[in-house]
Amino acid sequence: MVEGLREHLVAYFEAHHRLVESGALQLLLSQTHPLLVSRDLVEQPANGSPVVTVEMVERALALRAPAIPSTRAVTAELRDVARPGDVRREIPFELLREGFEGPPVGADALAAYSTLFQSRYRALARLMRGRPELANLRPVSALRAGDGPTSVIGLVREVRTTAKRHHLVLTLDDDTGSVEVLVPQDSPAAAASFLTDEVVGVRLQLPRESGRLPRVLAVERPEVPVARSVGRSGRRRRAVFLSDLHIGSRSFLAESWGQLVDFLRGDGPHADVAEEVDHVVVAGDLVDGIGVYPQQERDLAIADVVEQYAELGRRLRELPARLSIVVVPGNHDAVCPAEPQPALPDALRAALPPNVHSLANPSTFALHGVVVEAYHGRSFDDLIPAIPGASYSRPTDVMRRMLQMRHLAPIYGDRTPLAPLPRDGLVVDPAPDILVTGHVHTYGADRYRGVLLLNASTWQAETEYQRMRNISPVPARAAVVDLSTLDLTTLDFSSGEPVRLGAAG
Ligand SMILES: [Fe+2]
Ligand SMILES: [Fe+2]
Repeated sequence: MVEGLREHLVAYFEAHHRLVESGALQLLLSQTHPLLVSRDLVEQPANGSPVVTVEMVERALALRAPAIPSTRAVTAELRDVARPGDVRREIPFELLREGFEGPPVGADALAAYSTLFQSRYRALARLMRGRPELANLRPVSALRAGDGPTSVIGLVREVRTTAKRHHLVLTLDDDTGSVEVLVPQDSPAAAASFLTDEVVGVRLQLPRESGRLPRVLAVERPEVPVARSVGRSGRRRRAVFLSDLHIGSRSFLAESWGQLVDFLRGDGPHADVAEEVDHVVVAGDLVDGIGVYPQQERDLAIADVVEQYAELGRRLRELPARLSIVVVPGNHDAVCPAEPQPALPDALRAALPPNVHSLANPSTFALHGVVVEAYHGRSFDDLIPAIPGASYSRPTDVMRRMLQMRHLAPIYGDRTPLAPLPRDGLVVDPAPDILVTGHVHTYGADRYRGVLLLNASTWQAETEYQRMRNISPVPARAAVVDLSTLDLTTLDFSSGEPVRLGAAG
């Protein structure tokens, strides 16, 4: 039995306290963006029925695209509730969702950001509601001094430390108001740091009389479920994960890239592995761009950004045309830097071969039923300084935290610009099978609750700018993942012929 996207969708509805009819699920799976429509459905009030029906899906589809009539006949057996394990045809590539869903609406930036944070709060609060750890859950406005243990879910607006005892004071916001709560510095609740703009659930001891702060007894994060549905391919197919090509830079590692091309063409050693590769994923910074940092022109071999994408197209055409190539932009690419970033504009996309899926940053897609969340990783620049003990050399520690928060870039107002879109496209839902990032130009692999965390390697050698900032890259590694098991093989192309570094992670 092959588990795949179908299981992920059933689990997605379960996580949002809904069951889905078989026919409704089939209809969803026949859509190009099944997750977008599914999210519309979980965002609708349940109207007393926990079951998602074919009619509900049809209605959601009609709202998204009024021009497309539905001619699907509904038969009795389609009304069965979908169960994990129902057989489904395995599809090599399916786009599930792009983080960027159209430009911001309205001219009032403050209102737009407020809508963004409401969307974040609702999406993450939905994942935590109903947990026994958050018993007696109340809106902030309903907290009363003298009540027994109570829980709230809030967006962390501010974290400060008290002057004398160094306790933490959090300001938590929900739809109804704002509350300050105290986290004693030696309590288990203070074990993991709090990041501004993340969403947490807290169990509170309310004060006997008003005027004192509620005390946090325990913290709950959105998290990845311990037992979750997983996607695996039915037969052994592989995907190669790369990042940060920086085409156009003088430091692009053309020789290592040549070796990678030879490998994927099946020339030389590891031809048995190459033969099973169907997909190549590139997690952003496809080109070096122009004007990204001071005096970048000194580091450029191609000073024109359009020419850089033409060269990217030539490089990607060197790979076998049978491969599907998925690319998302990064902060060096020629799209708006605010996240979520849209996919490359058509004029630049035109330079790339037809086997390229050019997607937004981040994007969620399934490779042979294995759900991949690809995010470039600009937020490492904010998360690493904010998380005690985090370091550029161990990006997967930060990726674990992203999964615990179920958010890729929570912090607002620092180095990662956030686009004020009506929906927060940086929320991680569903939990993927593979989370891939780049940006930090190192290489890392780890696992967290069954999710494979990959920080894919760069194809750019160290630049003057990186030397200055004390970043030593780990370039020219290909992460080759067996999609039937999620086993990882790392191939190192940094010194000629590929060297197999073993099944790390
Ligand atoms: Fe980069
Ligand atoms: Fe980057």
